[in-house]
Amino acid sequence: MGGFAAMHHLTVAELEAEGLVKLTCTCDPRADSAFAAQQQAWRFAERGVRVFSHYQQMIDQCRDALDYVVVSTPINLHAEMHRAAAEAGIPCYLEKPATLDYIELEEMIARDARLPRASLVGFNFIIGPTRRALKQRLLDGEFGAILEATLLGRTPRPADYFYRTDWAGRLMMGERIVLDSCLGNANAHLVHNMLFWLGQGGLSTWADIATVRAELYRAHAIEGADTFFVQASSAEGQILRCAVTHACAGETRHCETLRCEKAELRYIVGSHAEIHWLDGRPNERIDTRGFDPLRENHLAYRRYLTGEESRPATSLADSRPFVHLNDLAHISSGEITPLPGELISHTRNEREQKDYISMSGRMQEAMNRFLDTGTFPGKQWGRRSPAVLVTPAALPKLHDTVRAMHAALDV
Ligand SMILES: NC(=O)c1ccc[n+]([C@@H]2O[C@H](COP(=O)([O-])OP(=O)(O)OC[C@H]3O[C@@H](n4cnc5c(N)ncnc54)[C@H](O)[C@@H]3O)[C@@H](O)[C@H]2O)c1
Repeated sequence: MGGFAAMHHLTVAELEAEGLVKLTCTCDPRADSAFAAQQQAWRFAERGVRVFSHYQQMIDQCRDALDYVVVSTPINLHAEMHRAAAEAGIPCYLEKPATLDYIELEEMIARDARLPRASLVGFNFIIGPTRRALKQRLLDGEFGAILEATLLGRTPRPADYFYRTDWAGRLMMGERIVLDSCLGNANAHLVHNMLFWLGQGGLSTWADIATVRAELYRAHAIEGADTFFVQASSAEGQILRCAVTHACAGETRHCETLRCEKAELRYIVGSHAEIHWLDGRPNERIDTRGFDPLRENHLAYRRYLTGEESRPATSLADSRPFVHLNDLAHISSGEITPLPGELISHTRNEREQKDYISMSGRMQEAMNRFLDTGTFPGKQWGRRSPAVLVTPAALPKLHDTVRAMHAALDV
């Protein structure tokens, strides 16, 4: 009921008022102790919503009434909740990322394949109409081949973001790998978007990863990384560079850039898309504001479940390239380098009453240099050795790598 699940409740209530869905039941271990006010505000009693404190009990008692279950809970709980729903024959709207462990993902894909309808992984932006129209134009060859793709994900998060919940910023919980990070979680949408642009086998395809080289850093007192520099090549030989960070203050800046033979495309999520033609034609600008990702994803998934569409926007198998990229980035880096104290500054945002950890202009400079030239910060930021170039054959090293990163922690 809390965190992002609250947004799902608001969206579902809206769709219910329009007669499109009906919320049958919901569950949270702290349903009554922490969410009594929400239960009233969301009018559960009037709407006949049954409330449970354990998801298994909810599924056992409500399975015949359910068409899908929304799993908007801590990442480390997604697999077991998906299993419980799948065993009852019910597909899930799984919040992204479904998991960040490639082995667990394969288990989920296998389980999901036994369902009459596939689960959805809720990456927000794949169903955006402007994005889909541009991808189709790319596939039709209007912009020529993609020469290079880059992602800038400057996503400030205050220091207390990592204390909001027990899994935030964690590499492991017990023996389980979690890998919550700025790439695996908040910027996951954008990284998945990049792989969508690069997928050449049709509209709903994502590029497979061939090689990865990455450097991971942390400025916050967390287990995982809050800054990633990742260079990957796709199976088709295209180059993708991603620079994403939470170690910054001020404005959020996101830009997906595709340098193509005939044009440069820039997509700024939540704002607009730009097409810069290289032959002197006037540039195009397409406004993308007003798109409500959560509402549109519920509606698109509903259309799939009622047979009006042939597939969910992103299936579990479609998220494989994203999970591989994330896992290979950890394996390639081999370490999460603490950013040198002298490079870090602390900023108080008085309006928000929040503290931010940043690197002043240095982060933006390093991100720009990396995206333009592929130059990693490396030794200048305290790395002891260069990152290793890895291929998917290295995936079996994931668990040992993460355990070693965890063992090396001094926080
Ligand atoms: N699509 C988006 O834009 C978006 C935005 C934010 C978060 N997310 C995703 O949503 C998911 C949840 O993230 P969050 O930050 O809201 O997490 P959170 O830790 O705030 O948890 C969300 C809710 O899950 C509940 N919960 C915990 N254990 C539970 C259990 N055993 N059974 C039922 N409920 C349980 C918590 O009480 C909380 O109310 C993550 O996968 C995250 O990546 C997506």
